[in-house]
Amino acid sequence: MAAIRETWNSRTAFVLAAIGSAIGLGNIWRFPYITYENGGGAFLVAYFICLFLAGIPLLMLEFSIGHKFHQAAPGSFKKISPRLEWFGWFAAGVGFIIVTYYAIIMAWSVNYTYEAATLGWVQEEGEYADVQYAIAQTDLEDMEVLIEVPDSLLGRSFVSPVSADQGIISDDPEDSEMYGTILVAFDGHLYGFNSVDEATTFMGSPADFFFNDFLGVTSSPWDIGKFKWPLFIGFTLAWIWIVASVWKGTKTVSKVVYFTVLIPWGLLLLFVIRGLTLSGAGSGIEFYLTPIWSKLMSAKIWLAAVSQVFFSLSVGFAIMIAYGSFLPKKTNIAANAMIIGIADALTAFFGGLAVFSALGHHASSLGVPVSQVVSSGPGLAFVAYPHIITTLPAARIFGVLFFLMLLTLAVDSAFSLLEAVTASVKDKWRTSHRKANLIVGISAFLLGIPMLTGMGIHILDIADHFMNSFGLTLVVLGEVLIIGWGTGAEEQRQYINKNSSFNIGLWWNICIRWIIPMGILWMIFTEIQERAVPYGSFGLRSQEFLFGWLLIILLPIIGDILASVSGKKEPE
Ligand code: PFF
Repeated sequence: MAAIRETWNSRTAFVLAAIGSAIGLGNIWRFPYITYENGGGAFLVAYFICLFLAGIPLLMLEFSIGHKFHQAAPGSFKKISPRLEWFGWFAAGVGFIIVTYYAIIMAWSVNYTYEAATLGWVQEEGEYADVQYAIAQTDLEDMEVLIEVPDSLLGRSFVSPVSADQGIISDDPEDSEMYGTILVAFDGHLYGFNSVDEATTFMGSPADFFFNDFLGVTSSPWDIGKFKWPLFIGFTLAWIWIVASVWKGTKTVSKVVYFTVLIPWGLLLLFVIRGLTLSGAGSGIEFYLTPIWSKLMSAKIWLAAVSQVFFSLSVGFAIMIAYGSFLPKKTNIAANAMIIGIADALTAFFGGLAVFSALGHHASSLGVPVSQVVSSGPGLAFVAYPHIITTLPAARIFGVLFFLMLLTLAVDSAFSLLEAVTASVKDKWRTSHRKANLIVGISAFLLGIPMLTGMGIHILDIADHFMNSFGLTLVVLGEVLIIGWGTGAEEQRQYINKNSSFNIGLWWNICIRWIIPMGILWMIFTEIQERAVPYGSFGLRSQEFLFGWLLIILLPIIGDILASVSGKKEPE
């Protein structure tokens, strides 16, 4: 008799678990910024089109693969053809790399929950300001900016002390004597300060606290810097939380997700209400949503929309295949995918409202335009937000709640990936759930440790860039080619319809066979072309480029090795 596969406790548990995986850091800090950068309201139109033409059809595809073959990604692709098992491991590998750095951001959030309680980022006897403030106080005409910063740098957050002859920056006030100007890179902008006083205003800011005190950022990914022990504690706590959440597989997950989805939703609502009632909120919202329709004509906005949809819905990570494999026989694939896709998009939209209303308030209190306080990635969550939080009444409470929101949002994305890889290991080697869980969890933990040093944020940035731009897209491309052109889109569509409360039409086949693969090919070519331009404030040198590609190339090879190792047969 075949072993009975574990299943979700209920339909709600499944839907919440998949929503939990989908909503995460991507919704709160990535989506709002990408929306603003790509034409506000116009981007929302592109986003929703990509959601319906690519995101939701792919969710249906991944759920149906797992449901049909009752296996996580490697086992499912092996059932399609024994020669394709490596591809399933490749998908799991891309997700695995992503979770190693995702857990680092969770570690930052754990420590920042503490920093928020003590307002640790407020330095120098309560005196703090940030670079926007410094700029607002300075006559820009007087500032000497030595380097033109390319557009591709805008929005990237680094303060990297690199010597001026390397052409970038110095954050050491002493250098002002040597070079006459102190250069500080912040959020991809390069600022020159005329005096030590000016620079010190910045140096005591939340940005300085985050990059210099908290992370101890070094000048390049090849300069290790110090190991940050406090971060190690936060990192360990984050991993214990992730592993414990999937300790008994779907049984534990089915219970945990009620908290890890509903709590951040509640907190997000609180932040939206708080944000909208702040003075100056309107200017932030206007900035976020004013549509620039002409942008719809550029390729960039569509590429941004598609990659955001993949990352945000957790497709291409092997996660939704594993989650689909735990579905009971009788299920509703099409409706579930719709609910999950729409819930994720709405969460992102509300995330944007919370973020931009707060930024609007922040800008108006500094008397600067909103564009000067907008930042993405770490710059938003760990620099701009702490700054805004400090200006609110009951700052400590809002600060703690904000980082708890980030943590509860992130944890179910992280454990969904752990569960997907654990299930892959279990399917192949028939190990106990706990053993597989520990092996996978501890390996990811160990791989993350180098990112607790001063070079961590550089590694994180490179891995994130390559995994998003090439890893996820290559996995999705493989999936649509294998199903759309290999086993047959029509057969899969009929399978979905047999297991859904309503029928999806032929449009689904067109999305899977044509729209998605063409879109991805176009996207990959554009990305490769754009990579000629350096990114990150230190520039993407050939070593970094090599490191990124090595990651991508190694994963299918490792996948192939895992596929060739023999597993244990399913008990008859
Ligand atoms: N969907 C997640 C998000 O939007 O934040 C992305 C994600 C990251 C999923 C890491 C899974 C994961 F392990």
